[in-house]
Amino acid sequence: MKKVALIYWPQGGSVERCANIINDKLQDCNVEFHCLEDVKAGDLAKFDSIVLGGSTVGADHWSNDQNQDEWTFLFSEMEKEQVDLKDKTIALFGLGNQMLYPNHFVDGMITIKKAFEKFGVKTVGPWPTDGYDFNESQAIEDDKFVGLALDEDSQPELTEERIDEWLHMIKKDIA
Ligand SMILES: Cc1cc2nc3c(=O)[nH]c(=O)nc-3n(C[C@H](O)[C@H](O)[C@H](O)COP(=O)(O)O)c2cc1C
Repeated sequence: MKKVALIYWPQGGSVERCANIINDKLQDCNVEFHCLEDVKAGDLAKFDSIVLGGSTVGADHWSNDQNQDEWTFLFSEMEKEQVDLKDKTIALFGLGNQMLYPNHFVDGMITIKKAFEKFGVKTVGPWPTDGYDFNESQAIEDDKFVGLALDEDSQPELTEERIDEWLHMIKKDIA
């Protein structure tokens, strides 16, 4: 059985709530559940696949917001240590608010994807943009979100079924 890490940030809000739901639904897999703060760059290579969840909190530039410091810190540690993640798989989920930030909906997912892809990972779990109402997102490639987009602010009732469908899609690739 593959070794899976489920890593999320920040704590205490929607991301953590969704991460908990995902963790519960991955209990038939060999999964380790971690808040980003507890993860060291050097630990990443011991997993076959990594599910990464974050939010977007910088209306104009994702990287502006201090809340993202924890991700930036991990990325710089990964650079410093030149972690070897070749042949590893990642899957992303991102929280956002399409009503208040329709021009930057779940932008943050692309930052995490790019940061990890530098180290040779393969990303699975693109997600259709149907059923959302927004103008633009940097997190779209080939007409799909690069990972699961969740909106606990304006579409909380859809979260669980979206998670179920997404996990059903990616389980064979990550677990
Ligand atoms: C200051 C601020 C800026 C935000 N900027 C964006 C944004 O650019 N794009 C987006 O989709 N959501 C944006 N959001 C919405 C959050 O991503 C969303 O509420 C998310 O669920 C927060 O997760 P958390 O509760 O775990 O912090 C922003 C929220 C705040 C408070």
